[in-house]
Amino acid sequence: MLNFDLHIPTRIIFGRDTHKQIGTLLQPYAKKVLLHFGGSSIKKSGVYDAVTASLKESNLEFIELGGVVPNPRLSLIHEGIRLCRQEGVDLILAVGGGSVIDSAKAIAMGVCYDGDVWDIFEQQKTITAALPVATVLTIPAAGSESSNGTVVTNEEKQMKLPYGSIHLRPLISVMNPELFFTLPKNQVANGVADMMSHIFERYFTNTLQTDLTDGLCETTLKTIMKNALKVYSTSQNYDAWCQVGFGGTIAHNDLLGLGREQDWACHGMEHELSAIYDVAHGAGLAVLTPAWMQYVYKDNINMFVQFAVNVMGVDVCYRDPDAIVLEGIECLRKFFKQMGLPSTLSELGIDESKLEVMAKKATGIAYGSENPLGGLKKLYWQDVLEIYKLAK
Ligand code: NZQ
Ligand code: ZN
Repeated sequence: MLNFDLHIPTRIIFGRDTHKQIGTLLQPYAKKVLLHFGGSSIKKSGVYDAVTASLKESNLEFIELGGVVPNPRLSLIHEGIRLCRQEGVDLILAVGGGSVIDSAKAIAMGVCYDGDVWDIFEQQKTITAALPVATVLTIPAAGSESSNGTVVTNEEKQMKLPYGSIHLRPLISVMNPELFFTLPKNQVANGVADMMSHIFERYFTNTLQTDLTDGLCETTLKTIMKNALKVYSTSQNYDAWCQVGFGGTIAHNDLLGLGREQDWACHGMEHELSAIYDVAHGAGLAVLTPAWMQYVYKDNINMFVQFAVNVMGVDVCYRDPDAIVLEGIECLRKFFKQMGLPSTLSELGIDESKLEVMAKKATGIAYGSENPLGGLKKLYWQDVLEIYKLAK
């Protein structure tokens, strides 16, 4: 096991009706709030009315900026930074999913940065401050409600880049699983694929002596899969949503990755799909993950046997580890299919024309410095291209 540094300060308020407490929760921290949200979902579901009523009840002044789209755009973030400075906002409240929360985090650090916020992403600059961010989560998926990360699309440059800092963990996140009842099936499935990937990126490692986090990863994966099928078929199953929702947070607050070398190749490869083709992050991961497993498993077959047996429930046949692994991957593909997720790039509308461009962007070689992806196996642009081809 490796050394680690754990700091997860986000206060998480979980359960029925909790979003109605948001005004009281924010009162000690803010005088003027930027209420940040996406499209029409929070107005249709009544969440917008409940949140604004709560802010008013607590006498919190607020201004609004809606319009965040999935794969949140830099242009709206620039607008948010300008607005926060002009209005003297001291806290950003993100009501929505990963895209809204990530947009809020980028605005929060941009307000405190004397320059273009995109430089922070592109040059991976160290930030020293950000406005506090609070969240009311409406879709369990990205884990941004307690992660230290934000992922933003620069639409002009067709680049989608992640950035992480201890200053970006939200101050408070409210999770009422009842708010997930209105999610369309494809968003339920995308969210589940993303949270599972957050665990895979940590679970598949060459680091040894990681029994505790291995077990936490395996249990969280099994819990999410079992309950994901329930909420996929019955959208109002509160108890199952509790498991999926909490699972999504645990999947990405880094508890499960402590002391292990992490991988993150699938995320690196997927961000290129989202940047160029604007695909949903979870759907892209569902396509790439089994292909990645197939390509890399021989480099650490024991890890993949453990996954097949402990997570996917493959019957052991000790003398044929390849067969165990391949069956485990097949079971994962079947699960994604049951959740209505795509299994090929062509189902995402992606043809072969830009596979090489994406492989070179993902590994940095397109920008002049090669930065191979992956921890379990280092992937150079030619490897990434092979994985994209396997996922065709
Ligand atoms: O815009 P509205 O109308 O609100 O609709 C949204 C959006 O279209 C809809 N939705 C959300 N809650 C709903 C709802 N519809 C009905 N009922 C509800 N309760 O869902 C759609 C998708 O929303 P989005 O926020 O894009 O989803 P998600 O949470 O999956 O976020 C994806 C983004 O997070 C990034 C991804 O790259 C992607 O850009 N990630 C962020 C991470 C982080 N900050 O730590 C880590 C992840 O790996 C991920 O990269
Ligand atoms: Zn993700």
